[in-house]
Amino acid sequence: MPIVAPSFLAADFLQLDKACELVNRSQAEWLHLDVMDGRFVPNISFGIPVVSAIRKATTKVCDVHLMIEEPERYTEAFKAAGADVLTVHAEACRHLHRNLQQIKALGMKAGIALNPHTPVAAIDEVLEDADLVCIMTVNPGFGGQKFIHSMLKKVERLKASILKKGGETLIEIDGGVTLENAAALVNAGADVLVAGNTVFGAKDPEATIALLKNIV
Ligand code: DX5
Ligand code: ZN
Repeated sequence: MPIVAPSFLAADFLQLDKACELVNRSQAEWLHLDVMDGRFVPNISFGIPVVSAIRKATTKVCDVHLMIEEPERYTEAFKAAGADVLTVHAEACRHLHRNLQQIKALGMKAGIALNPHTPVAAIDEVLEDADLVCIMTVNPGFGGQKFIHSMLKKVERLKASILKKGGETLIEIDGGVTLENAAALVNAGADVLVAGNTVFGAKDPEATIALLKNIV
């Protein structure tokens, strides 16, 4: 059974307390927070004070996805804000190995996100240093985009690399996850399913989380 991580980018920002309560009583173990800087991605979402406020209202694992340039400048700030998992983009880090060590030294789980065009081979040398690899299945920056189907093979390739190294790195899928493609993703090796619009756009978000959780 996958870990389900509802993405707050698709929640009603005027009612983040309600979104937290909903996730708290649901089967989701994580919640996913997308931080964007308008540089690494064309969009700006929310930052440290919002993560901090959500942290106080949730009992779940705070999975923070940094879509920002020079994420190493903010590692300590996100730790202080309450991130449990901190994911940086391979494309945004000149010294990815160092960044991962920095995140782990602060007591957080370290994740690497890969844009659709970045091959799994690009992080082969640091795979064992990562607690999680986030495969972007859309181009980062916006919620509600269409899943890029060719990413399914990438998930399989990543899973094979992780198994070959005997590691326990989790595979997270981010972008365009639906009730239709979730089973195939889990069968390909996904451990964590991020879902924004599929959860918060649903008539019954809590029931949708349960469906994702029990998809295979
Ligand atoms: C996109 C973000 C995603 C986004 C997913 O840049 O990283 O986490 O919230 O949204 P959906 O599930 O709606 O595609
Ligand atoms: Zn994300």
